[in-house]
This record gives sequence, C-alpha cells and structure tokens, in this order.
Amino acid sequence: MMFIVIEGIDGTGKTTIAKKLGEELQSLGYDVLVTEEPTKTWIGDDVRRAVEEEKNGFTQALLFFADRADHIEELKRKSDRIIISDRYVYSTYAYQGAQLEKLMGLDNAIEWFEKVYEPFRYDPDVVILITVNPNEGLDRIYGRDRKEKFERHEFLRRVQEIYLRLSKKYGFIVVDGNRSFEEVYEDVKKAIFEKLEKT
Ligand code: TYD
Repeated sequence: MMFIVIEGIDGTGKTTIAKKLGEELQSLGYDVLVTEEPTKTWIGDDVRRAVEEEKNGFTQALLFFADRADHIEELKRKSDRIIISDRYVYSTYAYQGAQLEKLMGLDNAIEWFEKVYEPFRYDPDVVILITVNPNEGLDRIYGRDRKEKFERHEFLRRVQEIYLRLSKKYGFIVVDGNRSFEEVYEDVKKAIFEKLEKT
C-alpha cells in the first residue's frame, strides 16, 4: 500500500523513529510491517559479520545486495501493507559508495550499484533522510581508540555528504535530526501523513 524508507548515518535515531511510526500507524488501524536492512535472517547475519570483519567494499556491497534481493521478495509479497524499512538500497549507495570511491570513483560506484539493483528493483514511495550535525551527532559513536573514532567520524561525515547528494537525485525528504526526538518524529510523521492523504 505504501513503502516508506528511513535512511541516515549511525546515531540519527532512525530505528526508534521507524518503530514509533509503525506503532502509531498500527494503532490507527493500518496493517504495518516494520523491517530493516541488514535483515534479521541468516543472510543478514552474514552481512553484519562481513561489516564487523571489515571486508572490502565490493564484498560488502554484494552481500548487502544478496540480503536485499531476498528482502525484496518478502516486501513484494506484503505490498498490501504499509512497509517501513530502516535502511534500504540508499545505504549501499552511501556507505559502500564512500568505501569504494577512492578505488573506482563515486559516480562509477553508484552506477554499478544501480545496475545490480535494476533487475529486482522495488522502489519506495517515500524516503526520509534524517541528518545530524556531524560534530555533535557523532559523539555517540565510539571506536576502540581515538584514531578509530576519528576515522569512523570522517567516514560517516562523508556518508552523510553522499546521502545529501542522493537526496537531490532521488527526491528524499530531508529531516533535520539535530533536535529533540519529539520534534524530529513530528516532522517525519507530518511528511508521512501528507503522503498517506494523497493515496
Ligand atoms: P544497522 O544494523 O542499521 O546499524 P545502525 O543501527 O548502527 O544504523 O546497520 C549496520 C551497519 O551496516 C551500519 O553501519 C550501516 C551499514 N550498512 C551498509 O554499509 N550498507 C548497507 O547497504 C546497509 C543496509 C547497511
């Protein structure tokens, strides 16, 4: 019925927002599926393992797509519901784009991802991108040591830049996440309810 995707770098609170939005829509009588990528299947477990072991960007991209191809089968089966996915294909564009840009260039990487996605693509009706101020939002993200923390912050800063670039290409609704949870949630809810009224 409606396919909603929520994107953003780590620490944006998108998981809590997806959950609360799902509960609220459910309480209004909608049939809702709140889901996520990486998924909670064995393929998703393998993907998380590859991320933890810092496998290269190609390996990660292909694993995320394997997980997604399987996820999409489920999403298509349940397309009569309101689906809210915490992360989707744009996470691969932004995160693996940031990982691979030095090797192949960002535009080439995204072009490659789009080609992989094309044969089984299933596009959302609306994508919400939650942004954070990289300096403040990232303070919650720790690393093993200062160097690792710094590198992770630099990486996520770049991931968010790529997300913002993608927001123009794909028409995301960008929500400023540098506010209280309630304020951010109200903006997300407003955007979704406006969309629901039009369908
Ligand atoms: P997730 O479980 O959503 O972590 P978090 O709750 O911290 O956001 O995602 C795990 C990590 O996988 C996260 O750092 C984002 C990354 N990721 C990618 O790099 N590419 C992808 O396609 C997806 C879906 C996630």
